[in-house]
Amino acid sequence: MAQQDDVFKKIVSHAKEYGFVFQSSEIYDGLSAVYDYGQNGVELKNNIKRYWWEAMTLLHENIVGIDSAIFMHPTIWKASGHVDAFNDPLIDNRDSKKRYRADVLIEEQLAKYDDKIAKEVAKARKRFGESFDEAMFLQTNGRVAEIAAKRDALHERFAAAMNDNNLDELRQIILDEEIVCPISGTRNWTEVRQFNLMFKTEMGSTADGAMTVYLRPETAQGIFVNYLNVQKTGRMRLPFGIAQIGKAFRNEIVARQFIFRMREFEQMEMQFFVQPGREMEYFAYWKDQRLRWHKALGLGDEKYRYHDHDKLAHYANAATDIEFQMPFGFKEVEGIHSRTNFDLSQHEKFSGKKIQYFDPERNESYTPYVIETSIGVDRMFLSVLCSSYEEQKLEGGDTRVVLHLPEALAPVKCAVMPLVKKDGLPEKAREIVNDLKFDFATHYDEKDSIGKRYRRQDAIGTPFCITVDHQTLEDGTVTLRERDSMQQTRVAIADLHRLIHDRVSLNSLLRKLA
Ligand code: GAP
Repeated sequence: MAQQDDVFKKIVSHAKEYGFVFQSSEIYDGLSAVYDYGQNGVELKNNIKRYWWEAMTLLHENIVGIDSAIFMHPTIWKASGHVDAFNDPLIDNRDSKKRYRADVLIEEQLAKYDDKIAKEVAKARKRFGESFDEAMFLQTNGRVAEIAAKRDALHERFAAAMNDNNLDELRQIILDEEIVCPISGTRNWTEVRQFNLMFKTEMGSTADGAMTVYLRPETAQGIFVNYLNVQKTGRMRLPFGIAQIGKAFRNEIVARQFIFRMREFEQMEMQFFVQPGREMEYFAYWKDQRLRWHKALGLGDEKYRYHDHDKLAHYANAATDIEFQMPFGFKEVEGIHSRTNFDLSQHEKFSGKKIQYFDPERNESYTPYVIETSIGVDRMFLSVLCSSYEEQKLEGGDTRVVLHLPEALAPVKCAVMPLVKKDGLPEKAREIVNDLKFDFATHYDEKDSIGKRYRRQDAIGTPFCITVDHQTLEDGTVTLRERDSMQQTRVAIADLHRLIHDRVSLNSLLRKLA
C-alpha cells in the first residue's frame, strides 16, 4: 500500500511538472479541492471529452447534445430533491476537531476486512508455495471465514442504515466497530448530521430582493428541463437521448486524492428517454455500452469492475458504478442509473407544465422513463493518467518516465526534431511541422541532445517523434520513433501523414465501438 501511495505521489507531481494539472490559486497557497488544467492537461481533457461526445452523438443517431446554463431556476433543485436530500452524513471527532463522512469511515472499515483476508491469502501462499489453491483456501480456511462473516454483517447493517437514512445507527456502527479518528486516535465522536452539498449564491442586487440560486451539483437537471424543447424541435421519438458536458459543483467535505473528489468538476452525462417498462432492458444495454467505451482505450480490461448499489439515490430504481483500479483502490468513475420517471414527473408537478410524450404506436401519452449514464471528466482523466504512468528501466541502466497514453487521447501527437541546429535541418523540420500541424497537434523541438528531447516527449505521452537528419536532405526520409517500443524506422516524409493518422485518430477508437 505504501508503495502505491508513493507511486500516486509521483503521478501527482509529474502532472504538475509537465503542465497537466496545477493547484488552483497556487500563488495564494491554493484553494482546497479545486484544480486548474495546464497546457497538456487541457488537451488531454478535451480529447477525453471529444471521445465521449462523438461516441454518444456520432455513433447513435437517436442521441443529440445540448449545453444548458449552470444557473437554473432554484425551484428545479427543490423539484429534483437536491434541496432536501442531497446530503452527506457528517461526524466530528471532538479531540482532533476534524470532520469526516460517516459513510466513508465505515467503507474504510469494510476495506480493512478485505485487506485482512488478502493478508491471510498472502501468508498462506508463502507457506504452501506452488501447490497453493487460493479458491480452496478462501472456501475452507476458518480465520478467513470469521473475517468474511464480520465484513458481511457490517455491510448488511451499513446498507440498511444508509437506506433508512438512520443517522443514529451510522454513529452506533462507528462506535461498535471501534473506529478511531486517524488524527487523534480517539473514539470521541459527535452525533452524525446531514450536510447539504450544494453551493448557494445570490442573483440580482439585494435592493431588488435577490434570489438565492445554486451552482448545479449535476448537469442532468439541465437536460430534464429541456426535454420538451429538444423532443419537440428535434422531432425526437422514443427511445432517444440527450447528452451534455459541463461543470458541476459540490461542497465536498472529504475532498482528497487529488482530482478524484473536487469541489468544482466536470461531468459528461446522457439521459436516455424510454417507454415505461423498457427501462431495465436499456439499463443493461447502457451498462454494456459504457464498459465497452472504457475498455476500447486499452488501459487493461482487468482494471474495471461493476459495483451494483445497495443504497439507491432518491430518484433511482437500479444503479451500477463502473469502478477503475486507481493506485488507491477500485473507485467509481462512472454511474449508470435507472432514474424512473422521477425527474420529469417532479418537474411537471413543480412547474405546472405538462411534460409528456405522445406515443403514436401506443396511441397514448405518458411520462418517459430515463436511463442515465454519468461520468466525471476529471476522474476519467485521473484513471488515464494513473494507468499510463511508468518509470521504465532501460538497457544500460538508464531510466525514463513515460506516459503510455492511449494515442488518440495524447495531448501532442508528434514532435519534429532536427538532429542538429544547422545545415538546413531546422528549416526542413519546420517544413514538416507546417504540413502536419493542420491535422495533428505537432511540436517542434531543437533544444538539448536528441536523447533529452525524446525523454521530454515520453514524459507527456507523445506517440511519435520525427527526427530530421542529413540523410533527409538527400532522400526525403526521416526516422519515426515510437513512444512505447522506442523503435525507430526510416520512413518517407510523404508517408508520415498516413502512418500517424492510422494510429492517433479518434476515428480508429470509435470504430472499435461500432
Ligand atoms: N447525475 C447523476 C450524478 O451526478 P453521481 O454518481 O453523483 O451521479 C456522477 O456523479 C459522476 O460524477 C461520478 O461517477 C464521478 O465520476 C463524478 N463526480 C461526482 N462527484 C465528483 C467530485 N466531487 N469530484 C470529481 N468527480 C465527481
